Amino acid sequence: MHFLFLFLVTFLQSPGARAGEIIGGQEVKPHSRPYMAYLTYEIGNGIKKACGAFLIREDFLLSAAHCWGRSIKIILGAHNIKISEDTQQKIPVLRAIPHQKYDNKTFKNDIMLIQLKKKARLNKAVGLLPLPRKKNLIRPGKSCIVAGWGRTLQDRFSDTLQDVEIKVIKDQECMERYPKNYNTSTQICAGDPKQKKSSSQGDSGGPLVCDRVAQGIVSYGFSNGRNPRCYTRIFSFLPWIKKTMNEY
Ligand SMILES: *[C@@H]1O[C@H](CO)[C@@H](O)[C@H](O)[C@H]1NC(C)=O
Ligand SMILES: *[C@@H]1O[C@H](CO)[C@@H](O)[C@H](O)[C@H]1NC(C)=O
Repeated sequence: MHFLFLFLVTFLQSPGARAGEIIGGQEVKPHSRPYMAYLTYEIGNGIKKACGAFLIREDFLLSAAHCWGRSIKIILGAHNIKISEDTQQKIPVLRAIPHQKYDNKTFKNDIMLIQLKKKARLNKAVGLLPLPRKKNLIRPGKSCIVAGWGRTLQDRFSDTLQDVEIKVIKDQECMERYPKNYNTSTQICAGDPKQKKSSSQGDSGGPLVCDRVAQGIVSYGFSNGRNPRCYTRIFSFLPWIKKTMNEY
């Protein structure tokens, strides 16, 4: 992550880009987003990092490939990740499968499947998020939701799940701001540049939810949380998702 951060600082000539905090959002009603999972991993020297992930089948979650690391742990059914809630399910991870062609310099193919050792128990606090079926479901102007335990405007990580409404905007906006990185066929550009509402550090891997469907995955953007930001376009990875889930 540090190399990637440096790379982007160099090439974007900006305050620096780093992977996706909820900024300008609010605490969600507990367990109203039952597909959300809290993911932690280690990057060496015992340093722990956190991301979001979301449940798409009882035994599979989706996240971002840049959230891959050692000792990946998943907590389902959480609202406050600092306390041990009765609703939480901590299921060991069987394998983490980042996209084979994930490129940590450009964030290309920033998608990862995580298979659990056993199926999650679905209930009011733990549920599935549907994948998209039709590409045309999502257009500029569309309002979507991003949720996560990432950094907030107060510049600290949140103990409780937050969410924020974010609008999909024209690809052109991301092409201009992230010319070396943005790919219109595999990514979604979202977040009004005039608004201080966005995903941010620690929200990476969480879903961009439009009409209760997972359309994007929080991928990358400028380090100051400024909009717009880039999301992995899930629709373009459906064949990979299906094939990979069938293989295991
Ligand atoms: C990025 O990928 C390259 C090649 O696989 C690897 O050598 C490097 O350590 C990676 N960098 C980070 C920050 O993960
Ligand atoms: C965008 O990604 C697709 C799929 O990986 C690739 O075929 C295409 O060449 C990319 N476009 C650009 C401009 O890099």
